[in-house]
Amino acid sequence: MPIPTNQPGQTAPAADGKPPLPQFRHFVDGQFVDSLNGATFDDMNPATDELLATVARGEAQDIDRAVQAAKKSFEEGPWARMPIKARCDKLREIGDRILERREALALAETLDTGKPITESLEGDIPRAAQNFHFFAEAAGQLHEESYTIDPMERHFTSREPLGVVGLITPWNLPLYLATWKVAPALAMGNSVVLKPAEWTPATATMLAEIMQEANLPPGVFNVVHGFGPNAAGEALTRHSEVRAISFTGENATGQAIMKVASETLKKLTFELGGKGATVIFEDADLSQAVPTAVRAAFRNQGQICLAGSRLFVQKSILEQALPEIVAAVQAIRVGDPLLPETRMGSLISREQFEKVLRYVELGKQEGRLLVGGEPISPAEGLGKGYFLQPTVFTNLPNESPICQKEIFGPVLPIIPFETEQDAIDMVNSTRYGLSASVWSRDVNRCHRVSQGIRAGIVWVNCWFARDLRTPFGGMKASGIGREGGRYALEFFSEAKTVAYRYQ
Ligand code: NAI
Ligand code: MG
Repeated sequence: MPIPTNQPGQTAPAADGKPPLPQFRHFVDGQFVDSLNGATFDDMNPATDELLATVARGEAQDIDRAVQAAKKSFEEGPWARMPIKARCDKLREIGDRILERREALALAETLDTGKPITESLEGDIPRAAQNFHFFAEAAGQLHEESYTIDPMERHFTSREPLGVVGLITPWNLPLYLATWKVAPALAMGNSVVLKPAEWTPATATMLAEIMQEANLPPGVFNVVHGFGPNAAGEALTRHSEVRAISFTGENATGQAIMKVASETLKKLTFELGGKGATVIFEDADLSQAVPTAVRAAFRNQGQICLAGSRLFVQKSILEQALPEIVAAVQAIRVGDPLLPETRMGSLISREQFEKVLRYVELGKQEGRLLVGGEPISPAEGLGKGYFLQPTVFTNLPNESPICQKEIFGPVLPIIPFETEQDAIDMVNSTRYGLSASVWSRDVNRCHRVSQGIRAGIVWVNCWFARDLRTPFGGMKASGIGREGGRYALEFFSEAKTVAYRYQ
Protein backbone atom coordinates (compact mmCIF):
# COMPACT_ATOMS: atom_id res chain seq x y z
CA MET A 1 0.00 0.00 0.00
CA PRO A 2 1.41 3.39 -0.91
CA ILE A 3 1.54 6.36 1.42
CA PRO A 4 -1.36 8.63 0.49
CA THR A 5 0.00 11.65 -1.33
CA ASN A 6 -0.80 15.21 -0.44
CA GLN A 7 -1.51 16.31 -4.01
CA PRO A 8 -2.46 13.45 -6.28
CA GLY A 9 -1.97 15.63 -9.36
CA GLN A 10 1.55 16.47 -8.31
CA THR A 11 3.20 13.09 -7.98
CA ALA A 12 6.52 12.51 -9.66
CA PRO A 13 6.48 10.88 -13.11
CA ALA A 14 6.50 7.09 -13.08
CA ALA A 15 9.95 5.61 -13.63
CA ASP A 16 10.55 2.10 -15.00
CA GLY A 17 6.87 1.31 -14.93
CA LYS A 18 6.73 1.61 -11.16
CA PRO A 19 3.86 3.55 -9.59
CA PRO A 20 4.60 7.24 -9.21
CA LEU A 21 6.19 8.27 -5.95
CA PRO A 22 4.42 10.60 -3.58
CA GLN A 23 5.94 14.04 -3.18
CA PHE A 24 5.84 15.61 0.23
CA ARG A 25 5.73 19.36 -0.17
CA HIS A 26 5.91 22.21 2.27
CA PHE A 27 2.64 23.60 3.56
CA VAL A 28 2.71 27.38 3.66
CA ASP A 29 -0.15 29.83 3.97
CA GLY A 30 -2.70 27.06 3.50
CA GLN A 31 -1.14 25.69 0.28
CA PHE A 32 1.23 22.87 -0.61
CA VAL A 33 4.32 24.33 -2.26
CA ASP A 34 7.69 23.23 -3.59
CA SER A 35 10.96 24.63 -2.32
CA LEU A 36 11.75 28.01 -3.84
CA ASN A 37 14.86 26.49 -5.44
CA GLY A 38 12.98 23.32 -6.44
CA ALA A 39 15.31 21.03 -4.46
CA THR A 40 14.15 17.72 -3.02
CA PHE A 41 15.54 14.86 -0.96
CA ASP A 42 14.63 11.19 -0.64
CA ASP A 43 12.52 9.62 2.06
CA MET A 44 13.37 5.96 2.59
CA ASN A 45 11.61 3.04 4.21
CA PRO A 46 14.25 1.77 6.66
CA ALA A 47 12.78 -1.74 6.76
CA THR A 48 13.37 -2.27 3.02
CA ASP A 49 15.76 0.53 2.08
CA GLU A 50 13.28 1.47 -0.64
CA LEU A 51 12.42 4.96 -1.73
CA LEU A 52 9.08 6.06 -0.30
CA ALA A 53 8.76 9.61 -1.50
CA THR A 54 10.61 12.67 -2.59
CA VAL A 55 10.46 15.56 -0.18
CA ALA A 56 10.76 19.30 -0.72
CA ARG A 57 14.09 20.37 0.72
CA GLY A 58 13.62 23.61 2.60
CA GLU A 59 16.30 26.24 3.09
CA ALA A 60 16.37 29.63 4.77
CA GLN A 61 14.21 31.27 2.08
CA ASP A 62 11.50 28.61 2.51
CA ILE A 63 11.54 29.17 6.26
CA ASP A 64 11.27 32.90 5.68
CA ARG A 65 8.27 32.42 3.41
CA ALA A 66 6.55 30.26 6.06
CA VAL A 67 7.41 32.64 8.89
CA GLN A 68 6.06 35.61 6.92
CA ALA A 69 2.81 33.72 6.30
CA ALA A 70 2.60 32.80 9.97
CA LYS A 71 3.26 36.38 11.01
CA LYS A 72 0.59 37.74 8.69
CA SER A 73 -1.95 35.20 9.96
CA PHE A 74 -1.08 36.13 13.52
CA GLU A 75 -1.35 39.86 12.99
CA GLU A 76 -4.29 39.96 10.61
CA GLY A 77 -6.08 36.64 10.76
CA PRO A 78 -8.87 35.41 13.00
CA TRP A 79 -7.04 32.66 14.87
CA ALA A 80 -5.65 34.59 17.84
CA ARG A 81 -8.82 36.69 18.09
CA MET A 82 -11.58 34.13 17.94
CA PRO A 83 -13.44 33.03 21.08
CA ILE A 84 -11.51 30.35 22.94
CA LYS A 85 -14.42 27.95 22.48
CA ALA A 86 -14.28 28.25 18.70
CA ARG A 87 -10.54 27.64 18.71
CA CYS A 88 -10.85 24.62 20.99
CA ASP A 89 -13.69 23.23 18.86
CA LYS A 90 -11.38 23.44 15.85
CA LEU A 91 -8.64 21.56 17.71
CA ARG A 92 -11.13 18.87 18.69
CA GLU A 93 -12.15 18.58 15.06
CA ILE A 94 -8.50 18.08 14.07
CA GLY A 95 -8.19 15.34 16.69
CA ASP A 96 -11.31 13.68 15.27
CA ARG A 97 -9.94 13.89 11.74
CA ILE A 98 -6.70 12.24 12.86
CA LEU A 99 -8.73 9.35 14.28
CA GLU A 100 -10.77 9.10 11.07
CA ARG A 101 -7.50 8.66 9.18
CA ARG A 102 -5.91 6.46 11.81
CA GLU A 103 -5.12 3.57 9.47
CA ALA A 104 -3.57 5.68 6.73
CA LEU A 105 -1.54 7.68 9.23
CA ALA A 106 -0.38 4.52 11.03
CA LEU A 107 0.69 2.93 7.75
CA ALA A 108 2.60 6.06 6.77
CA GLU A 109 4.30 6.19 10.16
CA THR A 110 5.32 2.55 9.99
CA LEU A 111 6.66 2.79 6.44
CA ASP A 112 8.61 5.91 7.38
CA THR A 113 10.09 4.71 10.69
CA GLY A 114 10.18 0.91 10.53
CA LYS A 115 8.18 0.68 13.76
CA PRO A 116 5.59 -2.11 14.18
CA ILE A 117 2.20 -1.28 12.69
CA THR A 118 0.46 -2.27 15.93
CA GLU A 119 2.44 0.37 17.74
CA SER A 120 1.54 3.03 15.18
CA LEU A 121 -2.12 2.03 15.19
CA GLU A 122 -2.52 1.71 18.92
CA GLY A 123 0.14 4.07 20.21
CA ASP A 124 1.40 6.88 18.02
CA ILE A 125 -1.70 7.86 16.08
CA PRO A 126 -4.35 7.69 18.84
CA ARG A 127 -1.98 9.66 21.05
CA ALA A 128 -1.59 12.30 18.32
CA ALA A 129 -5.37 12.67 18.27
CA GLN A 130 -5.44 12.74 22.05
CA ASN A 131 -2.92 15.59 22.07
CA PHE A 132 -5.46 17.74 20.21
CA HIS A 133 -8.41 16.57 22.28
CA PHE A 134 -6.52 17.09 25.52
CA PHE A 135 -5.18 20.57 24.77
CA ALA A 136 -8.57 21.68 23.47
CA GLU A 137 -9.92 20.82 26.91
CA ALA A 138 -6.97 22.16 28.87
CA ALA A 139 -6.87 25.51 27.06
CA GLY A 140 -10.60 25.94 27.62
CA GLN A 141 -10.05 25.53 31.34
CA LEU A 142 -6.95 27.66 31.75
CA HIS A 143 -7.63 30.33 34.32
CA GLU A 144 -6.07 33.75 34.46
CA GLU A 145 -5.38 35.88 37.51
CA SER A 146 -6.75 39.04 38.96
CA TYR A 147 -5.49 40.75 42.12
CA THR A 148 -7.58 43.18 44.09
CA ILE A 149 -5.54 46.04 45.58
CA ASP A 150 -8.50 47.91 47.05
CA PRO A 151 -12.12 48.17 45.95
CA MET A 152 -11.11 50.60 43.18
CA GLU A 153 -7.91 48.99 41.91
CA ARG A 154 -7.47 45.63 40.30
CA HIS A 155 -4.59 44.06 38.38
CA PHE A 156 -5.41 41.49 35.72
CA THR A 157 -2.86 39.04 34.41
CA SER A 158 -3.74 37.39 31.15
CA ARG A 159 -1.86 34.95 28.90
CA GLU A 160 -1.24 36.21 25.41
CA PRO A 161 0.03 34.18 22.47
CA LEU A 162 3.68 34.66 21.58
CA GLY A 163 3.14 35.13 17.84
CA VAL A 164 5.12 32.90 15.48
CA VAL A 165 6.58 29.83 17.15
CA GLY A 166 8.99 27.27 15.68
CA LEU A 167 8.64 23.56 16.41
CA ILE A 168 11.49 21.16 15.63
CA THR A 169 10.72 17.50 16.08
CA PRO A 170 12.48 14.12 15.92
CA TRP A 171 11.86 10.90 14.01
CA ASN A 172 11.26 8.38 16.78
CA LEU A 173 7.59 9.28 17.44
CA PRO A 174 6.99 11.64 14.53
CA LEU A 175 3.30 12.57 14.66
CA TYR A 176 3.00 11.92 18.39
CA LEU A 177 5.74 14.41 19.28
CA ALA A 178 4.86 16.97 16.61
CA THR A 179 1.24 17.19 17.78
CA TRP A 180 2.41 17.35 21.40
CA LYS A 181 3.80 20.77 20.46
CA VAL A 182 1.42 21.85 17.70
CA ALA A 183 -1.75 21.40 19.78
CA PRO A 184 -0.81 23.61 22.76
CA ALA A 185 0.85 26.18 20.49
CA LEU A 186 -2.33 26.52 18.42
CA ALA A 187 -4.57 26.34 21.47
CA MET A 188 -2.98 29.50 22.83
CA GLY A 189 -3.52 31.37 19.56
CA ASN A 190 -0.03 31.23 18.09
CA SER A 191 0.88 30.63 14.47
CA VAL A 192 3.24 27.72 13.94
CA VAL A 193 6.08 26.68 11.67
CA LEU A 194 6.83 22.97 12.09
CA LYS A 195 10.14 21.51 10.89
CA PRO A 196 9.69 17.73 11.13
CA ALA A 197 12.64 15.35 11.18
CA GLU A 198 14.10 14.72 7.73
CA TRP A 199 13.84 10.95 8.28
CA THR A 200 10.08 11.06 8.79
CA PRO A 201 8.29 13.69 6.72
CA ALA A 202 5.13 11.70 5.90
CA THR A 203 2.73 12.23 8.78
CA ALA A 204 3.57 15.92 9.19
CA THR A 205 2.53 16.34 5.55
CA MET A 206 -0.67 14.43 6.22
CA LEU A 207 -1.33 16.60 9.26
CA ALA A 208 -1.09 19.61 6.93
CA GLU A 209 -3.72 17.98 4.70
CA ILE A 210 -5.93 17.58 7.73
CA MET A 211 -5.46 21.25 8.65
CA GLN A 212 -6.40 22.19 5.11
CA GLU A 213 -9.53 20.00 5.17
CA ALA A 214 -10.48 21.46 8.54
CA ASN A 215 -10.22 24.97 7.04
CA LEU A 216 -7.74 26.18 9.57
CA PRO A 217 -7.10 29.83 8.61
CA PRO A 218 -4.17 30.02 6.14
CA GLY A 219 -0.77 30.67 7.71
CA VAL A 220 -1.70 29.44 11.18
CA PHE A 221 -0.07 26.05 10.62
CA ASN A 222 2.92 25.72 8.30
CA VAL A 223 5.29 22.83 7.62
CA VAL A 224 8.75 23.23 6.13
CA HIS A 225 10.66 20.04 5.39
CA GLY A 226 14.42 19.80 5.31
CA PHE A 227 17.57 19.22 7.29
CA GLY A 228 18.90 20.82 10.46
CA PRO A 229 22.37 22.41 10.35
CA ASN A 230 22.79 25.15 7.71
CA ALA A 231 19.30 24.34 6.46
CA ALA A 232 15.63 24.69 7.36
CA GLY A 233 16.02 23.76 11.05
CA GLU A 234 18.79 26.23 11.75
CA ALA A 235 17.07 28.96 9.72
CA LEU A 236 14.00 28.60 11.90
CA THR A 237 16.07 29.05 15.04
CA ARG A 238 17.75 32.12 13.50
CA HIS A 239 14.68 33.92 12.18
CA SER A 240 14.08 37.21 13.95
CA GLU A 241 10.27 36.94 13.73
CA VAL A 242 10.16 33.59 15.54
CA ARG A 243 9.49 34.18 19.23
CA ALA A 244 10.06 30.70 20.61
CA ILE A 245 11.46 27.30 19.71
CA SER A 246 10.20 24.05 21.14
CA PHE A 247 12.63 21.27 20.31
CA THR A 248 12.87 17.54 20.96
CA GLY A 249 16.00 15.68 19.90
CA GLU A 250 19.67 15.25 20.53
CA ASN A 251 21.65 17.20 23.15
CA ALA A 252 24.21 18.55 20.72
CA THR A 253 21.35 19.89 18.61
CA GLY A 254 19.89 21.58 21.68
CA GLN A 255 23.22 23.27 22.27
CA ALA A 256 23.42 24.42 18.65
CA ILE A 257 19.88 25.77 18.78
CA MET A 258 20.49 27.62 22.03
CA LYS A 259 23.55 29.32 20.58
CA VAL A 260 21.81 30.51 17.44
CA ALA A 261 18.56 31.39 19.22
CA SER A 262 20.45 33.54 21.71
CA GLU A 263 21.07 36.07 18.93
CA THR A 264 17.37 36.88 18.89
CA LEU A 265 16.65 35.99 22.55
CA LYS A 266 14.06 33.34 21.84
CA LYS A 267 12.11 31.53 24.48
CA LEU A 268 13.20 27.87 24.47
CA THR A 269 12.01 24.53 25.66
CA PHE A 270 14.13 21.45 25.08
CA GLU A 271 13.36 17.80 25.51
CA LEU A 272 16.70 16.08 25.00
CA GLY A 273 18.19 12.68 25.57
CA GLY A 274 17.71 10.21 28.36
CA LYS A 275 19.31 7.15 29.88
CA GLY A 276 16.32 5.86 31.77
CA ALA A 277 16.82 3.34 34.56
CA THR A 278 14.68 0.46 35.72
CA VAL A 279 15.49 -0.50 39.31
CA ILE A 280 14.22 -3.86 40.55
CA PHE A 281 14.49 -4.55 44.29
CA GLU A 282 14.46 -8.03 45.80
CA ASP A 283 10.90 -7.59 47.10
CA ALA A 284 9.48 -6.59 43.71
CA ASP A 285 6.78 -8.59 41.96
CA LEU A 286 9.03 -10.05 39.26
CA SER A 287 6.09 -11.29 37.22
CA GLN A 288 5.27 -7.61 36.62
CA ALA A 289 8.71 -6.05 36.85
CA VAL A 290 10.52 -8.25 34.33
CA PRO A 291 8.13 -7.96 31.38
CA THR A 292 7.75 -4.24 31.97
CA ALA A 293 11.51 -3.73 32.19
CA VAL A 294 11.93 -5.59 28.91
CA ARG A 295 9.20 -3.57 27.22
CA ALA A 296 10.77 -0.37 28.59
CA ALA A 297 14.09 -1.27 26.99
CA PHE A 298 12.89 -2.46 23.59
CA ARG A 299 9.67 -0.67 22.74
CA ASN A 300 10.08 1.29 19.50
CA GLN A 301 13.39 -0.58 18.97
CA GLY A 302 14.74 1.20 22.04
CA GLN A 303 14.37 4.53 20.28
CA ILE A 304 12.43 6.37 22.96
CA CYS A 305 13.85 9.07 25.17
CA LEU A 306 11.89 7.48 28.06
CA ALA A 307 13.29 4.01 27.39
CA GLY A 308 14.47 2.05 30.41
CA SER A 309 17.87 1.61 28.83
CA ARG A 310 19.66 0.49 32.01
CA LEU A 311 18.39 -2.29 34.21
CA PHE A 312 19.54 -2.33 37.84
CA VAL A 313 18.75 -5.58 39.64
CA GLN A 314 19.39 -6.20 43.34
CA LYS A 315 22.17 -8.80 43.68
CA SER A 316 20.15 -11.11 45.92
CA ILE A 317 17.68 -11.83 43.09
CA LEU A 318 20.02 -11.58 40.10
CA GLU A 319 20.33 -15.33 39.58
CA GLN A 320 16.58 -15.74 39.70
CA ALA A 321 15.85 -12.73 37.48
CA LEU A 322 18.34 -13.37 34.65
CA PRO A 323 16.63 -16.41 33.09
CA GLU A 324 13.27 -14.63 33.31
CA ILE A 325 14.75 -11.61 31.55
CA VAL A 326 16.31 -13.77 28.85
CA ALA A 327 13.03 -15.57 28.26
CA ALA A 328 11.12 -12.30 27.99
CA VAL A 329 13.68 -10.88 25.55
CA GLN A 330 13.69 -14.01 23.41
CA ALA A 331 9.91 -13.84 23.18
CA ILE A 332 10.03 -10.44 21.45
CA ARG A 333 9.03 -10.96 17.86
CA VAL A 334 11.36 -9.02 15.56
CA GLY A 335 9.86 -8.89 12.11
CA ASP A 336 8.17 -7.18 9.24
CA PRO A 337 6.86 -3.88 10.64
CA LEU A 338 3.67 -4.31 8.61
CA LEU A 339 2.66 -7.55 10.35
CA PRO A 340 0.34 -7.11 13.32
CA GLU A 341 2.18 -9.66 15.46
CA THR A 342 5.55 -7.89 15.11
CA ARG A 343 6.81 -6.33 18.32
CA MET A 344 10.14 -4.95 17.12
CA GLY A 345 10.81 -3.50 13.67
CA SER A 346 13.68 -1.75 11.95
CA LEU A 347 15.91 0.97 13.33
CA ILE A 348 15.46 4.33 11.67
CA SER A 349 18.52 4.59 9.44
CA ARG A 350 21.87 3.18 8.44
CA GLU A 351 23.67 5.80 10.56
CA GLN A 352 21.67 4.89 13.62
CA PHE A 353 22.08 1.17 12.93
CA GLU A 354 25.84 1.48 12.59
CA LYS A 355 26.07 3.58 15.72
CA VAL A 356 24.14 0.96 17.69
CA LEU A 357 26.26 -1.86 16.24
CA ARG A 358 29.40 -0.11 17.43
CA TYR A 359 27.99 -0.15 20.96
CA VAL A 360 27.13 -3.84 20.57
CA GLU A 361 30.72 -4.60 19.54
CA LEU A 362 32.02 -2.64 22.51
CA GLY A 363 29.66 -4.54 24.80
CA LYS A 364 31.00 -7.85 23.53
CA GLN A 365 34.53 -6.71 24.38
CA GLU A 366 33.83 -5.10 27.73
CA GLY A 367 31.11 -7.33 29.13
CA ARG A 368 29.21 -10.57 28.64
CA LEU A 369 26.59 -10.90 25.93
CA LEU A 370 23.55 -12.46 27.57
CA VAL A 371 21.19 -12.55 24.61
CA GLY A 372 20.90 -11.09 21.09
CA GLY A 373 23.75 -9.08 19.63
CA GLU A 374 23.31 -9.79 15.92
CA PRO A 375 21.73 -7.98 12.98
CA ILE A 376 19.00 -10.05 11.39
CA SER A 377 16.96 -10.26 8.27
CA PRO A 378 13.55 -11.25 9.60
CA ALA A 379 11.84 -11.98 6.28
CA GLU A 380 12.22 -11.95 2.53
CA GLY A 381 12.46 -8.44 1.13
CA LEU A 382 13.78 -7.08 4.38
CA GLY A 383 17.42 -8.03 3.83
CA LYS A 384 18.43 -4.40 3.48
CA GLY A 385 16.51 -3.28 6.56
CA TYR A 386 18.10 -2.22 9.82
CA PHE A 387 16.94 -5.04 12.06
CA LEU A 388 18.84 -5.98 15.19
CA GLN A 389 18.08 -8.59 17.82
CA PRO A 390 17.15 -7.19 21.20
CA THR A 391 20.47 -7.29 22.99
CA VAL A 392 21.30 -7.63 26.67
CA PHE A 393 24.70 -7.41 28.36
CA THR A 394 25.86 -8.22 31.87
CA ASN A 395 29.23 -7.79 33.59
CA LEU A 396 29.69 -4.25 32.35
CA PRO A 397 31.13 -1.65 34.70
CA ASN A 398 28.71 1.20 35.33
CA GLU A 399 31.33 3.53 33.80
CA SER A 400 31.09 1.75 30.43
CA PRO A 401 29.75 3.96 27.61
CA ILE A 402 26.97 1.36 27.25
CA CYS A 403 25.77 2.27 30.74
CA GLN A 404 26.33 6.00 30.35
CA LYS A 405 25.59 7.12 26.78
CA GLU A 406 22.23 7.39 25.08
CA ILE A 407 22.44 4.56 22.53
CA PHE A 408 18.87 4.96 21.26
CA GLY A 409 18.64 1.37 20.14
CA PRO A 410 17.75 -2.11 21.44
CA VAL A 411 20.70 -2.53 23.80
CA LEU A 412 20.24 -3.11 27.52
CA PRO A 413 22.94 -3.47 30.16
CA ILE A 414 22.00 -5.24 33.41
CA ILE A 415 23.83 -3.82 36.39
CA PRO A 416 23.61 -5.45 39.83
CA PHE A 417 23.42 -3.38 43.03
CA GLU A 418 23.42 -4.13 46.74
CA THR A 419 21.92 -1.23 48.66
CA GLU A 420 19.32 1.43 48.01
CA GLN A 421 22.01 4.06 48.07
CA ASP A 422 24.11 2.15 45.48
CA ALA A 423 21.09 2.06 43.21
CA ILE A 424 20.38 5.77 43.62
CA ASP A 425 24.02 6.70 43.02
CA MET A 426 24.28 4.61 39.87
CA VAL A 427 20.96 5.83 38.49
CA ASN A 428 22.21 9.39 39.01
CA SER A 429 25.63 8.71 37.52
CA THR A 430 24.79 9.68 33.93
CA ARG A 431 24.55 13.22 32.59
CA TYR A 432 20.85 12.63 31.93
CA GLY A 433 17.86 12.96 34.22
CA LEU A 434 14.72 12.21 32.29
CA SER A 435 13.05 9.12 33.74
CA ALA A 436 13.35 6.08 35.97
CA SER A 437 11.13 3.22 37.04
CA VAL A 438 11.38 1.70 40.52
CA TRP A 439 10.01 -1.73 41.49
CA SER A 440 9.41 -2.81 45.08
CA ARG A 441 6.46 -3.78 47.27
CA ASP A 442 7.73 -1.49 50.04
CA VAL A 443 6.17 1.94 49.52
CA ASN A 444 8.57 3.62 51.93
CA ARG A 445 11.53 2.30 49.99
CA CYS A 446 9.91 3.42 46.75
CA HIS A 447 9.48 6.85 48.26
CA ARG A 448 13.07 7.09 49.49
CA VAL A 449 14.47 5.96 46.15
CA SER A 450 12.24 8.17 44.02
CA GLN A 451 13.23 11.12 46.22
CA GLY A 452 16.89 10.33 45.61
CA ILE A 453 16.65 10.03 41.84
CA ARG A 454 17.29 13.18 39.84
CA ALA A 455 14.80 12.78 37.01
CA GLY A 456 11.79 14.61 35.62
CA ILE A 457 9.59 11.56 36.11
CA VAL A 458 9.91 8.49 38.33
CA TRP A 459 7.46 5.64 37.85
CA VAL A 460 6.81 3.34 40.78
CA ASN A 461 5.79 -0.20 39.84
CA CYS A 462 4.95 0.94 36.31
CA TRP A 463 6.53 2.49 33.22
CA PHE A 464 5.34 4.94 30.57
CA ALA A 465 2.22 5.83 32.54
CA ARG A 466 1.52 9.33 31.28
CA ASP A 467 -1.17 11.74 32.29
CA LEU A 468 -1.10 14.68 29.92
CA ARG A 469 -1.82 17.13 32.75
CA THR A 470 1.53 16.39 34.39
CA PRO A 471 4.72 18.26 33.46
CA PHE A 472 6.99 16.41 31.09
CA GLY A 473 10.69 17.10 30.74
CA GLY A 474 14.10 16.33 32.09
CA MET A 475 16.63 17.40 34.68
CA LYS A 476 20.36 17.89 34.04
CA ALA A 477 21.31 17.33 30.38
CA SER A 478 17.87 15.91 29.55
CA GLY A 479 16.30 19.24 28.90
CA ILE A 480 15.14 22.67 29.80
CA GLY A 481 11.57 23.47 30.74
CA ARG A 482 8.49 21.30 30.88
CA GLU A 483 5.73 20.54 28.44
CA GLY A 484 2.29 19.04 29.08
CA GLY A 485 -0.85 20.48 30.64
CA ARG A 486 -0.63 24.07 31.79
CA TYR A 487 3.17 23.94 31.48
CA ALA A 488 2.88 23.77 27.71
CA LEU A 489 0.11 26.36 27.62
CA GLU A 490 2.31 28.67 29.66
CA PHE A 491 5.32 28.07 27.47
CA PHE A 492 3.34 28.94 24.35
CA SER A 493 2.04 32.19 25.84
CA GLU A 494 3.27 35.08 27.90
CA ALA A 495 1.86 36.77 30.92
CA LYS A 496 0.69 40.34 30.64
CA THR A 497 -0.59 42.43 33.51
CA VAL A 498 -2.94 45.35 33.08
CA ALA A 499 -3.43 47.35 36.26
CA TYR A 500 -6.75 49.18 36.53
CA ARG A 501 -7.47 52.16 38.72
CA TYR A 502 -11.24 52.76 38.49
CA GLN A 503 -12.67 56.19 39.02
P1 NAI B 1 18.63 15.59 15.89
O1 NAI B 1 18.61 16.31 17.19
O2 NAI B 1 19.74 15.89 14.96
O3 NAI B 1 17.27 15.87 15.09
C1 NAI B 1 16.07 16.29 15.67
C2 NAI B 1 15.52 17.46 14.86
O4 NAI B 1 16.38 18.58 14.96
C3 NAI B 1 15.37 17.17 13.38
O5 NAI B 1 14.17 17.78 12.92
C4 NAI B 1 16.58 17.87 12.78
O6 NAI B 1 16.43 18.24 11.44
C5 NAI B 1 16.70 19.08 13.66
N1 NAI B 1 18.03 19.69 13.71
C6 NAI B 1 19.23 19.06 13.66
N2 NAI B 1 20.23 19.96 13.77
C7 NAI B 1 19.66 21.18 13.89
C8 NAI B 1 20.16 22.50 14.05
N3 NAI B 1 21.47 22.75 14.10
N4 NAI B 1 19.28 23.52 14.15
C9 NAI B 1 17.97 23.28 14.12
N5 NAI B 1 17.43 22.07 13.97
C10 NAI B 1 18.25 21.02 13.86
O7 NAI B 1 18.58 14.06 16.19
P2 NAI B 1 19.01 12.88 15.18
O8 NAI B 1 20.33 13.17 14.56
O9 NAI B 1 17.90 12.64 14.27
O10 NAI B 1 19.19 11.69 16.20
C11 NAI B 1 20.45 11.48 16.80
C12 NAI B 1 20.37 11.09 18.24
O11 NAI B 1 19.57 12.02 18.98
C13 NAI B 1 19.70 9.77 18.50
O12 NAI B 1 20.60 8.74 18.31
C14 NAI B 1 19.28 9.93 19.93
O13 NAI B 1 20.36 9.64 20.78
C15 NAI B 1 18.92 11.38 20.04
N6 NAI B 1 17.48 11.61 19.91
C16 NAI B 1 16.75 11.81 21.03
C17 NAI B 1 15.39 11.98 20.95
C18 NAI B 1 14.57 12.19 22.15
O14 NAI B 1 13.37 11.99 22.12
N7 NAI B 1 15.15 12.64 23.25
C19 NAI B 1 14.68 11.93 19.68
C20 NAI B 1 15.54 11.75 18.54
C21 NAI B 1 16.88 11.59 18.68
MG1 MG C 1 11.72 7.81 6.33
